[in-house]
Amino acid sequence: MVLSTTSNGYEKSIVVDGLTRKFGEFTAVDGVSFDVRRGEIFGFLGPNGSGKSTTIRMLCGILEPSGGRASVLGFDVVNQSEQIKQHIGYMSQKFSLYDDLTVMENLDFYGGIYGLGNSKLAERKDFVLEMADLKGREHELAANLSTGWKQRLALGCAIIHEPRMVFLDEPTGGVDPVSRRNFWDMLYHMAEAGTTLFVTTHYMDEAEHCHRIGFIYQGSIIALGTPDQLKKDHMAGDIVEISIDTSQRALTAVGQTPGVDEAYFYGATIHAKVGSAARESLAIEKSLKSTGLSDFTIQVVQPSLEDVFVNLIETMR
Ligand SMILES: Nc1ncnc2c1ncn2[C@@H]1O[C@H](COP(=O)(O)OP(=O)(O)OP(=O)(O)O)[C@@H](O)[C@H]1O
Ligand SMILES: [Mg+2]
Repeated sequence: MVLSTTSNGYEKSIVVDGLTRKFGEFTAVDGVSFDVRRGEIFGFLGPNGSGKSTTIRMLCGILEPSGGRASVLGFDVVNQSEQIKQHIGYMSQKFSLYDDLTVMENLDFYGGIYGLGNSKLAERKDFVLEMADLKGREHELAANLSTGWKQRLALGCAIIHEPRMVFLDEPTGGVDPVSRRNFWDMLYHMAEAGTTLFVTTHYMDEAEHCHRIGFIYQGSIIALGTPDQLKKDHMAGDIVEISIDTSQRALTAVGQTPGVDEAYFYGATIHAKVGSAARESLAIEKSLKSTGLSDFTIQVVQPSLEDVFVNLIETMR
C-alpha cells in the first residue's frame, strides 16, 4: 500500500519548508524551514509574539498556512490535517480541561474523542495516572487541582491515545520550579520511549535540556542547532560574570566600561559580554572601583543559552 508506506515510512517527524502565515498585511510566520527527527525533543524558543503558537497551530493542522509546506508524521498539514489531528497530541498554551469533571472523567472524555475502545482506554488511563502520579486522585475535580497538577493532567489527556508526536505550547507557564522539573521528567521518559516532542518555552533551563533548539524572532528562525552548537556558533567573545550586590549602579558601571558590548542581570550576578575576558576584566574592575564599589569578584564563565539569546537579539536590533 503506497499510502501506508508514505505515512509510516517517514524519516523525520516534522519537515517544514518555507512555512508562512499572514494575518491581513502582517506576517506572523515568515518562511520558516526546519526538520525534527523521530524521538527528538525539539525546543522552539522566541520572545512573546514571535510566531511560536502560530507555527504550532499550522503544524497541528488547525490553522492554514499562507505559503510554504509542512508535513507531520508524513502527513501534509493542508491536505491531511484530519490524519494529523488523529495521530498527534497537542497541549495548547491555554489548554482546556473540564473543571467540573474529575481527573478520571477528563481522561474518559479525551479517550472518547480519540475513539479508544474500553480495554485500550482502561490500559491508557492506568498508564497516564501512573506517569502523572495522579493515582489516588482519580475522583478529584479538575477545578480543585493546583496549576502544576492541572498541567500534568492536561498532558495526560493530550497523550491518552498514545501519539508518536506531541506538541506542547508553553506547558510549564506559571508553574513552580519543582513542578516544572517533575513535568520535564515525564517528557524525558516519553522521548526515551520514542515519542517526538515539539516544545515551546521561555525557560532557558528547560531549553538546555532539548536535543535541538530553533530560535524564532519576528517570524523568522534566526538560529537552529543543539544547545552546544548554538553556544559555539552564536557567541563571538566571552562572558564575564560579576558576583556583586546587584544594583542599577553596578550594572551601569559595568555597562559603561569600554570594551563591554552588553551588560545584564543574570540571576544574582551581572553578566558582561566582552571581546576578550582577559582585557576587559581589568577594565570592569577599575570601573566598579571608581564608582565606589569594592565588594565583588569577577570570573570568566562558559556562555549559557540565555547569554546566547541576549546576544542574538542584540545583534538583530
Ligand atoms: N488570529 C490572529 N489574528 C491576528 N494576529 C494574530 C493572530 N494570531 C496571532 N497573531 C499575531 O501573530 C504574532 C505571533 O503570535 P503568536 O501567538 O504565534 O506568538 P508567540 O510566539 O506564540 O507568543 P507568546 O510567547 O506570547 O505565546 C503576534 O503578533 C500575534 O499578535
Ligand atoms: Mg504562544
